Amino acid sequence: MYSTLLIQTENGICTITINRPDKLNALNKTVVAELSNVIDEVYNNPEIKSAIITGAGPKAFVAGADISEFLQLNANEGEELARRGQKNVFDKIENSPKPIVAAVNGFALGGGCELALSCHFIYASENAKFGQPEVNLGLIPGYGGTQRLTQLLGRNRSMELIMTGNMISAKEAMEYGMVNKVTTPEELLPKLKETLEVIQSKAPVAISKVIECVNNFDHTQEGYDFEIKKFGECFATEDLKEGASAFLEKRKPNFKGK
Ligand code: COA
Repeated sequence: MYSTLLIQTENGICTITINRPDKLNALNKTVVAELSNVIDEVYNNPEIKSAIITGAGPKAFVAGADISEFLQLNANEGEELARRGQKNVFDKIENSPKPIVAAVNGFALGGGCELALSCHFIYASENAKFGQPEVNLGLIPGYGGTQRLTQLLGRNRSMELIMTGNMISAKEAMEYGMVNKVTTPEELLPKLKETLEVIQSKAPVAISKVIECVNNFDHTQEGYDFEIKKFGECFATEDLKEGASAFLEKRKPNFKGK
């Protein structure tokens, strides 16, 4: 069905593998279009409870946007490339009502680093490398890198990483707060799946509201007001009645996601 993605769904976890290993899984137009479609599938298919994005082969998660598509673009087309990608893939991942997480198994550069950053959290293998090397090409990040990296790392680290184009190791990325866990390459998917199974055992509507609230993080009163509203909405769900009853009846909850 997809020419650049491998899809496997098991125990409610949809593993999306970007499969262009000979080009280090670079994001060409087809990959972006197919990612957009598969994320729609994650949103809409009730059998999918969460998703992992990873890269094929031992070397790369995604080594960036496909540079071979850049030379023919003018300024309007360049803007359109970024706008379409952000709307159809990166923002859609970030705002997914179901968890979408990144298993970074090698180079995560440029659009690859931005793809991992748009996911709800990141696990990385020891050989992973993160960076925004766009300035080497006369470019800047265009899939949200200047925004998400600054939010996550703070202004000064974000400035240094983007202005030098340097790569950082998985360990440094963890110290920077970008990566939640570093594993061996073999343990990467099993560890992430273990964590997703824990999340999938919780109330799905509550999980989707957590994603909304955290994404809506705001230092001003607005962030707190948003959380108050979403907290209230939980009281209209069957999941809350089931979860609270199960606790009081000393049994395991059986959540329906309603
Ligand atoms: N776009 C298109 N092709 C890419 C690519 C990208 N972002 N990244 C790697 N490739 C291709 C290479 O052109 C090469 O193709 P070829 O075998 O047909 O020549 C193949 O993937 C393997 O890459 P190669 O450069 O030979 O591997 P390496 O181990 O020597 O270096 C990197 C790995 C990641 C350091 C290097 O590929 C690189 O710098 N890539 C570009 C990263 C980048 O600037 N990303 C941001 C884009 S906005």
